[in-house]
Amino acid sequence: MNVFEMDPTMSEVITVDDSQKLFVIRMQRSFYALRALPDGQVVHVGSGPLAPDAGPLHLAGLDGYEDPNYVCEQQGRRAELLAFGDISYHDVGLKVAFLEVAGQLPKGHAPHLPVRDVRLRYQRHEIRTDAAPGLSPTHGRAIRRAAVLRPVLIVHLQDAAYDFRVRLCYRVTPEYDIIERWVELENQTAQHVAVESLAFASIHFPPGRYELTRSAGAWAREFVPVRQNIEQGVTEISHRGLNTGHASNPFYMVHEHGSAGEDAGAVYFGALAFSGNWSLRFEMLPTDALRMHGGYEATDFSLTLGPGAVHRTPALVHGVADNGIGGASRRLHAFARDYVLPGYQDDQFRPVLFNSWEATYFDITLEGQINLARAAAQMGVELFCLDDGWFGSRRHDRAGLGDWAVSQDLFPNGLTPLIEAVKELGMRFGLWVEPEMINPDSDLYRAHPDWVLHFPGRPRTEARNQLVLDYGRPEVVEHIFAALDGLLSRYDITFFKWDMNRYASEPGSVVGKAIWHAHVAGLYSIMDRLRQAHPRLDIQSCAGGGGRVDLGILGRCDQVWTSDNTDPFDRAYIQDGFSLAYPPRVMEAWVTHDHNHQTGRVVPLDLRFDLAMRGALGIGSNIDKLSADERAAYRRKIGFYKTIRPVVQNGDLYRLARVQDGGVSVWQTVLPDQSQSVYSIAVIQQLQGHHLPAYRLRALAPAAIYAVRDENGARLGRYSGAQLMALGMPGDQRNGGLGCAVRSRTLLLEKVADQEPRYPSMGAET
Ligand code: DGJ
Repeated sequence: MNVFEMDPTMSEVITVDDSQKLFVIRMQRSFYALRALPDGQVVHVGSGPLAPDAGPLHLAGLDGYEDPNYVCEQQGRRAELLAFGDISYHDVGLKVAFLEVAGQLPKGHAPHLPVRDVRLRYQRHEIRTDAAPGLSPTHGRAIRRAAVLRPVLIVHLQDAAYDFRVRLCYRVTPEYDIIERWVELENQTAQHVAVESLAFASIHFPPGRYELTRSAGAWAREFVPVRQNIEQGVTEISHRGLNTGHASNPFYMVHEHGSAGEDAGAVYFGALAFSGNWSLRFEMLPTDALRMHGGYEATDFSLTLGPGAVHRTPALVHGVADNGIGGASRRLHAFARDYVLPGYQDDQFRPVLFNSWEATYFDITLEGQINLARAAAQMGVELFCLDDGWFGSRRHDRAGLGDWAVSQDLFPNGLTPLIEAVKELGMRFGLWVEPEMINPDSDLYRAHPDWVLHFPGRPRTEARNQLVLDYGRPEVVEHIFAALDGLLSRYDITFFKWDMNRYASEPGSVVGKAIWHAHVAGLYSIMDRLRQAHPRLDIQSCAGGGGRVDLGILGRCDQVWTSDNTDPFDRAYIQDGFSLAYPPRVMEAWVTHDHNHQTGRVVPLDLRFDLAMRGALGIGSNIDKLSADERAAYRRKIGFYKTIRPVVQNGDLYRLARVQDGGVSVWQTVLPDQSQSVYSIAVIQQLQGHHLPAYRLRALAPAAIYAVRDENGARLGRYSGAQLMALGMPGDQRNGGLGCAVRSRTLLLEKVADQEPRYPSMGAET
């Protein structure tokens, strides 16, 4: 049974007790409650796991105080959006400066301006189904569960003195215990209002001592999981480079100290749906109360609202799981598949991709690419992607970026001969682009040197010989849209690998500090317009590897490039961490050369494939130089991948072991109807003489019989679901002879009978 099945009506999900101004959100296995106090402040009452059959909650006595004896009453309240004013010496989610006095200056008051004090008080509330967060996709591609109406609680607040309005928004996805939180600001004063810091939401955790699981890393080491204590003070994870970043990623899992593991314990989790500068700031007060503000990074943030202006933030996706970190991951994965990814269909799978980068780098010829395409097609590749170097004067990374015209030197007849060859071979054609960047040595830069981020009279620091286009200028956004639209209109291109290979420096723009938001809005708008105009287009988000992976970009991209590091020894860490927040379906993973280009390691082909087959399989090696035996092995493994990908791409993921915890990474994906499962083990490090623990499988039908097949189609045995869930996969614990060598395998489990026979003969295939 799928634990996520639920078809709630709105009235069951959000209940309002008008007399107490108490709002209770009941989800499949959790709840969230807030209320307006008599003075109008809206505070958090409680949240956490809740059994589905729990009776009514009696919350009348809960008043939203962290500590009633706190030094000043207001400071002790758990305001749903902590604002500078009511709270002035703790971290806040909103800070506003009113530049003029409201009305007449009262007697005895001095004109101390700006007034940095905002006191938000309840006005009214409503429940709707048509509200959506800021920067929501406009590409028109339906999400999988487009037909499901999700209720949105909107609580209207207003400052006590200024007609400055704030709406707290809660869109509820009860089947995954997830609430999308966002904030709308509306300035109805006659003056400009400066917003100095802004979170999409403040989150309060129940009193306790907590740990944080998150990811940390760098280029080529993205997503490595980290588990740390949250101590008194502020713990911040953030990125300030204009995109989402390699060194950290905007998701969190918060669990009570020592109590949560992969399969058990309450886990408060969340992620930002935004691809620009972001921060998650956890503050543990001296009282041990823990809150978090997630939203725009504050360092260079600025938002000025003119009279009548409205700002709607993107969403912070927040939820709680009662079944550990694995349960939190599965909720986030299912949420992304059902409500975020564009045009996801159960029967449409991410294609097996070939990407030319590591095969040819900038050494591109028409003949060479057609040779690669032939080899790719013979192996069963479905999408052929031509990487960097096909345009303008881009024969190396010092020139041409920004000139999105096909190079006449390389392709005198345009891309048509290559695309036709690729299509005749039965594949789709994809193209690499890096539309936010420019080389100073380019026609575009020579024509418009003012179109880049820079400060007047100051140096323009280059990284990888490139500068960042100023997406604060509508004409730049329009120019880039037109260039890409032109390519898609002229050629049968159905896939863009959308790259971004540097962070911003000297962020001067025509829109000033607003560039941090304008860049993301411009990027999203180009992607959305392209998808709308070219409905067959898929997009892969890439930023020098996994530098732009978040729920915002996933709203308009079908997959992401996980990391430039394709070495399975490192990938096992990267992919374990990636899977904490993001589903395997979007995780593009290439098999590359036996001698890895990033690390220099020599890696067995089985391990390369077994790790890459955990996501959307890609091939990145120089396949026209492989031996006949190697090509046959590639073909066989790609064929096997196609048989398992419905499970890998649509199933629920169980991490049976993470490589960090003992040198072995074991993933199991299971279809919700339990008919099929894929088991993937990669033994990266094992000491001689040590046996591996039993990696007990999960979520199978206990009484059913599963036939286990390997990549050659050999049936390895038939076992009951109960046995596999009690003892693990037979054969994987052994460590004899060369048992400590690096090894891996991927197995497909298919249900062949619903009931175990009374006197079964187990093990041997019959
Ligand atoms: C960085 C990407 O991550 C690589 O895969 C490749 O596309 C290069 N950029 C091309 O410049």
